[in-house]
Amino acid sequence: MSEMRLQKFLALAGVASRRKSEELILQGRVQINGKTVSELGVKVTDKDLVELDGKKITVEDQKIYIMLNKPEGCVTTAKDQFGRPTVMDFIEGIDERLYPVGRLDYHTSGLLLLTNDGEFTHLMTHPSHEIEKVYVAEVEGCPDEKEIDMLRKGVDIGGFVTSPAKVEITEKKKNSCILKIAIHEGKNRQVRRMFESVGYPVIKLERTSIGGLKLEGLEKGRWRHLNNEEIKYLTHYSGKPTDLKPR
Ligand code: URA
Repeated sequence: MSEMRLQKFLALAGVASRRKSEELILQGRVQINGKTVSELGVKVTDKDLVELDGKKITVEDQKIYIMLNKPEGCVTTAKDQFGRPTVMDFIEGIDERLYPVGRLDYHTSGLLLLTNDGEFTHLMTHPSHEIEKVYVAEVEGCPDEKEIDMLRKGVDIGGFVTSPAKVEITEKKKNSCILKIAIHEGKNRQVRRMFESVGYPVIKLERTSIGGLKLEGLEKGRWRHLNNEEIKYLTHYSGKPTDLKPR
């Protein structure tokens, strides 16, 4: 919980409206860390003990879940030591401190979830929960069926052999091709390293889906709250197949 005015704290705790909470403060009925506060303007954080008539008041942290269509050219951290743009630059109007759920590389675009719910983050990122992430990759050249099969079965990306993946070519161009790839793990630069391992460097990479949740028209650089159904669906997610055809 970020620092906020005492009357807002009381209102969020469900004690009374902000206006009524101001009256309670002026009446000398509110204490912070054992001391009565009777003027307005005082701020509190969740480290402070707030009491009304000597009874402890608490605010449950509101859980926030949002999806961002991350553009290329920003880092997936709250702050960057080199001063590069971060995904947080695109999230405005939210007081709560949010954390990205997993990571997308600087040059990767697409679906990124952010939340202040640690349990949700664990559920979405732990490999044992097998949440499927789908990427669209453009690579230099075009792998043949044998190489695609290697990617499907699992490749060594430097001390780690990837789990079975779904891979299919969706478009062939003159010097490149576009593929859809669905994986359950989240090793550093995994998709790029998988394609590198069979000799096809990634030119462009976008994440289009997490656990069946898709960007669906959300423009690059824009975000929106997840609705209750989407949150419920993701938290109960148990390996819903995508539109990729497994072999
Ligand atoms: N795999 C990658 O190589 N990069 C990402 O950003 C995500 C998955």
